[in-house]
Amino acid sequence: MCKDRKVGVNLTMQGKIETVPKGFAALDVLSVHHWTDKTFSFTTTRPAGFRFRSGEFAMIGLMVDGKPLVRAYSIASPNWDEELEFYSIKVEDGPLTSRLQHLAVGDQILIRPKPVGTLVHDALTPGKRLILLSTGTGIAPFASIVRDPETYEKFEQVILTHTCRDAHELDYGFEIVRQCEQDELLSEVVGGRLLHLPTTTREKTATMGRMTDWLADGRFEAATGKALTPAEDRVMICGSMAMLQEHKTMCETAGMAEGSNSEPGDFVIEKAFVD
Ligand code: A2P
Repeated sequence: MCKDRKVGVNLTMQGKIETVPKGFAALDVLSVHHWTDKTFSFTTTRPAGFRFRSGEFAMIGLMVDGKPLVRAYSIASPNWDEELEFYSIKVEDGPLTSRLQHLAVGDQILIRPKPVGTLVHDALTPGKRLILLSTGTGIAPFASIVRDPETYEKFEQVILTHTCRDAHELDYGFEIVRQCEQDELLSEVVGGRLLHLPTTTREKTATMGRMTDWLADGRFEAATGKALTPAEDRVMICGSMAMLQEHKTMCETAGMAEGSNSEPGDFVIEKAFVD
């Protein structure tokens, strides 16, 4: 049975999806956590046989007016996890997120079970440090990558940068890093090799500034022990278009080549979902 939940002009009625459209699967929502008034995460069941590589995204969404309304969402859980996790922005007028933000335990969402993406190990050549540059909800694919033991088999050190306007928006990243450090099995694999660099750009905190500025003015080098070193560093970038472009230019200027699934390289980029 669907329950009416009146939200502004949107009448959101989720509950169970009665007819799952062809090419989609229905996932049960298992938990929902609101991190800020702009972001939330939720977990769902994982369909039997649903495989993905850590860092990939899938099309997920809801039935709206009898039709599937889906958007690309990074899977924030690692590929060994029995549940799927997603981290989402809330956009008041966003066609999907205005509805998705009212999800509750017991609701169902749709997924097109064909994950894809370039923020994967396969798209990078071997290196020593893996640098994950993110802003806002762009941290989602890296929440998957940093919780995947394979990451620590491939790299000696993993550096996760997360830049948001306000301190509260960094909470999700802190929780992911806490899991890496405190989960009994994972912490052994991580072995203190995950370095977390959270920064804010508007609210005053101890670590302020865009990571583009940190990389340019030596603060990144001071915090990590080494400036960006193309011969050893591999980089994944996820954020807004402007953020991607600036970081991409920095990597290219340093002599790094962009990678893809068919031709692995030194750095890879993907746009964070915004709607
Ligand atoms: P700033 O506050 O200086 O714009 P947004 O919410 O606009 O996507 O921004 C999320 C975070 O990303 C903010 O901290 C923002 O900093 C930062 N940011 C925005 N554009 C860039 C960019 N071109 N390079 C690096 N960081 C950026």
